[in-house]
Amino acid sequence: MTFNEELNIKVKYIEGVLEKFAPTPEKYANTVINAMNYSLMGGGKRLRPLLMFEAYRLFGGEEDVIEPFMAAIEMIHTYSLVHDDLPCMDDDEFRRGRKTTHAVYGEGMAVLAGDALLNFAFETACKAFDKLNVIQDATVSAKRIGSALGILAGKSGVYGMIGGQCADIEAENATPDKITEERLLFIHEHKTAALIQNALMVGAILAGANELDIAKIEKVGYNVGLAFQIQDDVLDITSTFEAMGKAVGSDEKNGKMTYVTMHGLNKAKADVDALSEEAVNMLKGLGDGNEFLSELIIYLVNRTK
Ligand code: IPE
Ligand code: IPE
Ligand code: MG
Ligand code: MG
Ligand code: MG
Repeated sequence: MTFNEELNIKVKYIEGVLEKFAPTPEKYANTVINAMNYSLMGGGKRLRPLLMFEAYRLFGGEEDVIEPFMAAIEMIHTYSLVHDDLPCMDDDEFRRGRKTTHAVYGEGMAVLAGDALLNFAFETACKAFDKLNVIQDATVSAKRIGSALGILAGKSGVYGMIGGQCADIEAENATPDKITEERLLFIHEHKTAALIQNALMVGAILAGANELDIAKIEKVGYNVGLAFQIQDDVLDITSTFEAMGKAVGSDEKNGKMTYVTMHGLNKAKADVDALSEEAVNMLKGLGDGNEFLSELIIYLVNRTK
């Protein structure tokens, strides 16, 4: 099977997991629930649940206890996009090839759909506890689920993605001489790498990886996340609306400080390569069975959407 065939099968499986855990209608709350489902089920690469699943397998995980967490991370990622697109943030009208949530449901409903996806992510992840009766050592599993919930919350929160979005907004319209490399890396590490680390670490923790290996996979997530955001910033300049399913030129419109504005396209592309190669090398130290994950990291370097 080729990498692309394997990728398609895995993404289809993830779509099935998302459908299983998606919110169902509830009387007078239907509008916000429809907005949640519109955002969540509207395509997307499904990268974070995929990375979580791969990390879980890499460390020997075989149960479906991972599934509620896979759905949860995609809900958190989707909420971050719904809010990121709001007029008060990046003010974008298209996402995943369709109108953004606020463009269809209005700003109030989009704010609520984002909030609701975040809460629902944790309601969903907690369903992992329901699986304890089918897993042999319930105490060990309960501890792992508890610790995975801590990472899921922390890496998404103020010391993770939200902190990065704060720094991203405050760096708008800053000129390269006004902003340090350290501050730019803070933005990329937090707004983007944190959710990638989140996915990999939750997968590793639920599979029972040791502290050292969890720290290693966190470092892999840092590299992959940084490379992923740099590539997103490159594509914002070099790609097209048709390929991306979202507006290009969004960063320039908003005066965003990106890796490309600071270092130029050539260095940005070269660093995406270098960071990804280093990530693949780090994976080699984490045992066998990482072929697909390594290919996925390289695939992301060359992605066009
Ligand atoms: C977009 O993430 C936000 C960034 C961190 C650049 P993705 O590029 O993973 O978006 P989807 O999920 O495929 O739509
Ligand atoms: C978004 O970064 C990171 C998030 C936490 C959502 P961008 O603002 O560059 O993402 P896109 O380009 O809108 O997908
Ligand atoms: Mg943004
Ligand atoms: Mg944006
Ligand atoms: Mg972008």
